[in-house]
Amino acid sequence: MTQPLKVRKPFIAIIGAGQVGATAAQRILEKGLSDVVLFDVVEGMPQGKALDLMEAAPIEGHDKRIIGTNSYEDIRGAEIVVVTAGLPRKPGMSREDLLGMNAKIIRDVCANVKKFAPASKLIIVTNPLDIMTHLAQKVTGFPKSRVFGMAGVLDAARMRFFIAERLEATPKDVEAVVLGGHGDLMVPVSSHSLVKGQPVHKLIPQEELAKIEQRTRDGGAEVMALLKTGSAFYAPASSVCEMVQAILKNERKVLPVCAYLEGEYGLKGLYFGVTAELGSEGIGRIVEMPLAQSEKKALMTSADKVKKGVQELEALFSKMNP
Ligand code: APR
Repeated sequence: MTQPLKVRKPFIAIIGAGQVGATAAQRILEKGLSDVVLFDVVEGMPQGKALDLMEAAPIEGHDKRIIGTNSYEDIRGAEIVVVTAGLPRKPGMSREDLLGMNAKIIRDVCANVKKFAPASKLIIVTNPLDIMTHLAQKVTGFPKSRVFGMAGVLDAARMRFFIAERLEATPKDVEAVVLGGHGDLMVPVSSHSLVKGQPVHKLIPQEELAKIEQRTRDGGAEVMALLKTGSAFYAPASSVCEMVQAILKNERKVLPVCAYLEGEYGLKGLYFGVTAELGSEGIGRIVEMPLAQSEKKALMTSADKVKKGVQELEALFSKMNP
C-alpha cells in the first residue's frame, strides 16, 4: 500500500487554501523553495489542491512536496506559517463586520499556531492587514520580530509595474517604496523610486506620477472591480513567496513589510508598513528613510487610521468578552 506523503523540514505551513494560499503554495513549490503543508477548515479542499499540485511536479520538474490537511497537528515543526485564512468583504457588510469576522478567524488560527508551531515565523496576509498582524502577535505572544505582515511587497510591486508600463521598461529594473498602512491611505514614496538608479521623478512628469501613486493606492480595488468575484491573488502570492524566500535563505533582503515599530518615524507600539531586513530570524533592522515633509505628513495620517483600527478591534473584543 502507498504510504501517505510526508513533508520534510524546513517546511512552510499555509493556513487558508483559498486563492492566495494555494497560489502561494504553487509558487513556493515550483521555485523549489521548500515543502508545504496546506491547511483549511473546508474538508477535502486542501487535500484536493495538494494532490493536483503534486501531479504537476513531474512536468514542472521540482522535487518539493505538498500535503493538504484539516488538522493543525500537521503544522507541527513549521519554519514559517503564512496566514491567508479569512472572509472577503461582501455587499452589505460594513468594515466593522469584516474586522470582527476576520478577527475571530485570526484569533482561532493563531491560538493553534502558538500551540503547534511555537518556534515559527508568522506572515499575516488576511485583511485588514495591519490590525490582523497586531492581533496575531497578541494572541501568539511571539517576539515581535517573528510576527509580521505582507502588504508592502505587493503595493510596491504594483507601483513598480505601473512605472515600468509608463516607461516601457522591464519591471525588474524599477524600484519603488510604499510605506504606511495597507489601505487607501498607504504612502507611495516616489522620491525613493528608481529606474536603474535614476530617480523616477526625472523620467515621469509630476502630474503623471501623482496618478501612478493613486493607482497604486487603488491597486486592489482595480483588480477586484475587473474580477467581480474575489480579489487579487497572483501578485499577493508572489509577494508572499518573496518574503518566504528571504527568510528561508536568510537573505536579509530589505523589503517593505508590516513590522512592529518602536520609535521609528516617531511611531511606537504599532504594526505599520516600513522597509526592513528580512532573514532567518524574521525582521531585522528597520530601515528608516529620509522623507519629504508632505510624505511624513501622509505617513502620520495613515498611522492615525491604523491606530483607530486597533482601538476598534479592542473595543469589539471587550464587547465580546466583557
Ligand atoms: N481557518 C482556516 N481557514 C479558514 C478559516 C479558518 N478559521 N476560515 C476561513 N478559512 C479559509 C476559507 O475556507 C478559504 O479557503 O480561508 C480561505 C480564504 O480564501 P479565499 O476566500 O479564496 O480568499 P483569498 O483571496 O485567498 O484571500 C485571503 O488574503 O489578501 C487577503 O483580503 C484577503 O483577507 C483575504 C485573504
